[in-house]
Amino acid sequence: METQGIEALEPGHSRSLRDFEIGRPLGKGHFGRVYLARLKTASSFIVALKCLDRAAVEKNPNVERQVRREIEIMMNLRHPNIVRLYDYFADEKNLYLMLEFAGKGELFKQLAKLGRFSERRSAKYTRQVSYGLAYLHSKNVIHRDLKPENLLIGLNGELKIADFGWSVYSPEESQRTMCGTLSYVSPEMVLGQPHGKAIDIWALGVLAYEMVVGEEPFAADTRTGPRHFVTPVAQSFITSVSRAFGGCPVAHYSAAPSRTDRAAGLEDTTVDPSSQYPGHAHIASRQPDEAIAAS
Ligand SMILES: Nc1ncnc2c1ncn2[C@@H]1O[C@H](COP(=O)(O)OP(=O)(O)O)[C@@H](O)[C@H]1O
Ligand SMILES: [Mg+2]
Repeated sequence: METQGIEALEPGHSRSLRDFEIGRPLGKGHFGRVYLARLKTASSFIVALKCLDRAAVEKNPNVERQVRREIEIMMNLRHPNIVRLYDYFADEKNLYLMLEFAGKGELFKQLAKLGRFSERRSAKYTRQVSYGLAYLHSKNVIHRDLKPENLLIGLNGELKIADFGWSVYSPEESQRTMCGTLSYVSPEMVLGQPHGKAIDIWALGVLAYEMVVGEEPFAADTRTGPRHFVTPVAQSFITSVSRAFGGCPVAHYSAAPSRTDRAAGLEDTTVDPSSQYPGHAHIASRQPDEAIAAS
């Protein structure tokens, strides 16, 4: 069902807003809204059209660069657990991203409605995020803004990673930019140290906690910033969660690996942690849904 009409979409083909019937708003982004839209072709293909205000984007060269990066990265991704970008086009007023429609909306809204998820449901979503992350990381892409608002649910209940507005190729440059959302931000970012793929695994740990418990492990105080809530106790807890998922953020915030890290093999950079996320015990011990492999 979801793939119907994809073949009819030719990236690079010059589209315009006139090719679409615009429906209800699906959400609000930093630079405009996202609308449900239907292609006025025989396929009547349904998409989510993300509209970005060109004036706002072009005003700031950093924002413009980041939007270009978002498009470039997303155009190269094809995975069932990642929202697909089919095409993009612009007119004088807006830039439009033609995205795969995730029919059941934000994970955030479902979590807010239910309070928290069952362990089984949490494990399913954690597994699906980890499949998407393993794929992203195998392509050297870091998402950098994983959180429930940026995780969408497809019509069949499958999770899809969305919003690549902060994403970046690694190790293209020394990553020091403080970005993402305070309560999901990793210690190495808080400390202003270089960061890599492990920050997504950190966020996966925070997400797994929030889905099962129904609260964020670190309530961010937007006035004082994250420095005050990433306490040593909190750090050691979430490190163990993140480490359990195969990431090795520990190595990022201690210059020399500690004896325990060494014992756990965490300083061994020859092991690609991305191959390990989906196999973690929390995920594996729950009833697996149908295997979702990289396409
Ligand atoms: N493909 C999609 N399908 C359904 N809803 C979407 C889709 N993309 C975005 N949305 C909705 O629009 C909101 C904003 O989109 P997002 O890409 O996160 O924008 P921003 O980069 O400005 O944060 C999302 O939180 C979600 O509610
Ligand atoms: Mg967003």
